[in-house]
Amino acid sequence: MRKKIVAGNWKMFKTNSEAVRLVQSLRTRVEKSPVKKNTVIVCPPYTALEKVSGILQGSGIQVGAQNLFWEEEGAYTGEISAKMIKSTGAKWVIIGHSERRRYFKEDENLIHRKIQIALKNKLKVIFCVGETLEEREENLTKDIVGNQVEWGLKDFTHQQLNQVVIAYEPVWAIGTGKTATPEQAQEVHAFIRDILNALFDDTVGRNMTILYGGSVKPQNAEGLFQQPDIDGGLIGGACLKADSFHRIIKAAEKVY
Ligand code: 13P
Repeated sequence: MRKKIVAGNWKMFKTNSEAVRLVQSLRTRVEKSPVKKNTVIVCPPYTALEKVSGILQGSGIQVGAQNLFWEEEGAYTGEISAKMIKSTGAKWVIIGHSERRRYFKEDENLIHRKIQIALKNKLKVIFCVGETLEEREENLTKDIVGNQVEWGLKDFTHQQLNQVVIAYEPVWAIGTGKTATPEQAQEVHAFIRDILNALFDDTVGRNMTILYGGSVKPQNAEGLFQQPDIDGGLIGGACLKADSFHRIIKAAEKVY
């Protein structure tokens, strides 16, 4: 059975006091209606990681960072290492998000190095892939996503791949309110499994948790989660309020 996950990417939102309020409220909700089957992860900004980890201790909700640097340590002003992230209590890190690819020019090679350093330091990885609108319109979705998966995960062992989940996030669906239809998402998720089978073997394709991200809301979560190859969601905007994030968590509990 593949692990099912609902993860929230807070992006550059929430001061520490706002972060505290959000996770306290989330914790209260989850205590009233417990998460029995699935994994829930919140990914606040670096500045709130330690506080959020503390508040969520014992709640079953896990914590992740949104990025890291590709070296262990050194003179890299402003950067954050895998060890620093681990020291906050976080267990996960998002790597390869389209906003990092776009605004910070992160390419496949750099993303691969980031995944490597994360795994070396025993951080689990949410590895994001996805095509832009232009690429989709030019019928390049499979080329782009296939290439991202291949380069991002190249040479990893089965054991390492067990510590990775993939998030398919079509760029045109992020923050736009334009969700991929369940069928559109399903098609790419099934394709990603085929690529993994071709690159490694069919146990990898079968066992990989693949999340969908891009305008997931309480109203559309269930339809997406019902698809056979969708194993949960990576949520942006809708995770910034405890109520809507919790409704998505409940949708996953209902479906899986
Ligand atoms: P939205 O849910 O706001 O579209 O963001 C998705 C996302 O980028 C999660 O990483």
